[in-house]
Amino acid sequence: MSMFMELYNSALKTVRDLALTNSGEKILILADTAIDLEMLKMLASAAYSLNAEPSIMIYETREEVNMEPPKHVAEAMISSDVIISLPLMYILHTNAYNEALKAGARILELTGMNPDMMIRLIGRVDYLKMCELGDQLVKITKDAREVHIKSNNGTDLRFENDPARPVYHNDGILKEKGIYKPLGGQISWAPIEESIEGTIVVDTFIWPPTELGILKKPVKLYIREGKIVEIEGGVEAKIFGNWLRSIEDEKMYYIAHASWGFHPKARLTGIPLEDERLYAGIEFGFGSQSLKFKGRIGKAKSHTDVGLYNPDVYFDGVLIASNGRFVCEDLREIDKVLKK
Ligand SMILES: [Fe+2]
Repeated sequence: MSMFMELYNSALKTVRDLALTNSGEKILILADTAIDLEMLKMLASAAYSLNAEPSIMIYETREEVNMEPPKHVAEAMISSDVIISLPLMYILHTNAYNEALKAGARILELTGMNPDMMIRLIGRVDYLKMCELGDQLVKITKDAREVHIKSNNGTDLRFENDPARPVYHNDGILKEKGIYKPLGGQISWAPIEESIEGTIVVDTFIWPPTELGILKKPVKLYIREGKIVEIEGGVEAKIFGNWLRSIEDEKMYYIAHASWGFHPKARLTGIPLEDERLYAGIEFGFGSQSLKFKGRIGKAKSHTDVGLYNPDVYFDGVLIASNGRFVCEDLREIDKVLKK
């Protein structure tokens, strides 16, 4: 089923309201071959209709995330005002990405997005209302010192937050030069690494390694002082363990960030960009840690993310989220509006 009108409308919202594209700007629509070509054309057409100068670049889908893109692609990135970055094998932790940011590019990170996601997650959401929830969630998370995450299937994890560290709202709205923002519906921060203790039962997704995605069986991660010390589960746990080992970087075992997902239209689809935004869900990232988090891990050879479905999350003893809803007093009203 082609929903070309809805797709064009969503592409226009993407370049106009998220990337804040201005007339005359050079827009690079960047993708690998895993990305739908019609959607790329829609993004370029929408940018063109705003009197910007769009260009599409597509290169082969790499075997791993964070491999440097081809040199001529990196050069195009540096000379662009805006980059809509869609490669499924994302390049967030590459020199090319960093150099483009240093040169002042605004990058909208839409890793692996497909037409259905663009219509649902951008076109059909009250985007600003969702961002309002995100702003409130940032405030509540910044104020929280002790965090406790529990779930029926065995997650029981505690950690502390450092009030001096930032909480990032990835609202996908590119207001400044030299920044990247992923699609809205997620906030992220780095907890105090050595305070993270307990068990994480991953039950939605792990990605990368690229042969994983939505999990068939939960994967249990035992965490001591912020580091995975044991992995338990079925074949997926073995694949994950082997992948971590293959990278030969001790930092891959450390929690780099915690994140809230709060996109009211997100579903578990096997595309990490969407899976990590599941409403009232929690995600943990391991390995490379963006320096902006002001954490202690820093750069590593790669990065992976894992998701938890509908956990109970307590901030300083107060239940914030449970069973896929935000239940604390400050968020109850906006939760009702977004999830009606
Ligand atoms: Fe991550």
